[in-house]
Amino acid sequence: MAKIPISFKVNGEQQEMLVEPDWTLLETLRDRMRLTGTKEGCSNGNCGACTVMIDGRTACSCLVLAGEADGREVITVEGLADHGHLTALQDAFIKEGGLQCGFCTPGFLISATALLKRNPDPSEQEIRLNVAGNLCRCTGYDKIVRSIQDAAQKMGTRAAN
Ligand code: FES
Ligand code: FES
Repeated sequence: MAKIPISFKVNGEQQEMLVEPDWTLLETLRDRMRLTGTKEGCSNGNCGACTVMIDGRTACSCLVLAGEADGREVITVEGLADHGHLTALQDAFIKEGGLQCGFCTPGFLISATALLKRNPDPSEQEIRLNVAGNLCRCTGYDKIVRSIQDAAQKMGTRAAN
């Protein structure tokens, strides 16, 4: 099969490459670009470990073909911190113990980042609904929800000052 050219922005940097027509965005990010923060769990859209933002909206990168990312802007977990400075959300996950093995964490961070951009003051129910597509085998979810609430509060306080 002939490779196809794609041009897309990943974490702020323009990328041009040839990809196999059947490569997923997840394979391209992990295997081609070595952005291994995005995890592969189920490969069928059920676990959320592979969640990235495409043009500001969350998507399971295992369900998106690399060719579909042509002309789009993709943000992975590697693109969240600003020059090594963790975001309030990343800090909150550490402080509140929102991760154990960490396998699900990149997906949760992307989903929650997108939520807090849309809705800076989400209710607990809105948080739980928003991350319902992200599975965690370790934490029992409560600490993840608390981490997101803590980040929302800090971000709100920062904006008010
Ligand atoms: S690896 Fe994509 S949803 Fe599980
Ligand atoms: S921290 Fe292990 S799967 Fe969520």
